[in-house]
Amino acid sequence: MHAPVRTLKMHRMCSFKGAWVVDRMTPDDISSILQIEQDSQPDPWTGGLFLEELNRPQAHVLVARTIQGGTNLLGYICFWEVADEIQILNISVHRSYRRKGLGRCLVREALLYGKRRRAKVALLEVRRNNVAARKFYASAGFKAVGERPDYYGPGEPAILMELDLVSFPQSKRK
Ligand SMILES: CC(C)(COP(=O)(O)OP(=O)(O)OC[C@H]1O[C@@H](n2cnc3c(N)ncnc32)[C@H](O)[C@@H]1OP(=O)(O)O)[C@@H](O)C(=O)NCCC(=O)NCCS
Repeated sequence: MHAPVRTLKMHRMCSFKGAWVVDRMTPDDISSILQIEQDSQPDPWTGGLFLEELNRPQAHVLVARTIQGGTNLLGYICFWEVADEIQILNISVHRSYRRKGLGRCLVREALLYGKRRRAKVALLEVRRNNVAARKFYASAGFKAVGERPDYYGPGEPAILMELDLVSFPQSKRK
């Protein structure tokens, strides 16, 4: 079973001209997630992979939905809690809702969860050529700490990025 993420249940997140709620993924979300995933990722996850995350004890998949309409899914983040680490595996925001703070909001939820669980560090890999994502993570406080050659395939290295959760502020607001 997933450990509870109390603050996530239909909790209004962050500040934005529009509004969204962040909640846990359910199987009913998969088709909307896949639309975003296939439009956003060069090597998209399948529905089966997202479903597997639901049954993986260390996995968390959070989704952001519009408040009005209820079912309009705008983005999601998948992360694992492993020992004292938060590992971010996947994040995508619907193309029409980018640069509105939603991605930052999802990452913050993952980091705050890690903070509550006393995790010490957040880690992720990002394609070296995904400049937008690297800037996005850097703007959230991640630092590049290494490179993994051929991580995504021949000639497709990953940059390893890290954020110190011990010094990450506990409060919701910056
Ligand atoms: C990366 C991604 C999740 C960012 O989501 P987002 O909701 O647009 O990000 P935010 O609006 O929260 O951006 C926060 C900050 O990150 C930086 N940033 C985000 N997108 C950026 C871009 N395309 N270029 C440069 N900087 C960017 C900016 O500093 C931004 O602040 P600003 O808008 O005030 O300048 C989104 O672009 C996406 O889904 N990309 C495709 C999937 C992907 O590459 N995922 C990451 C690897 S798994």
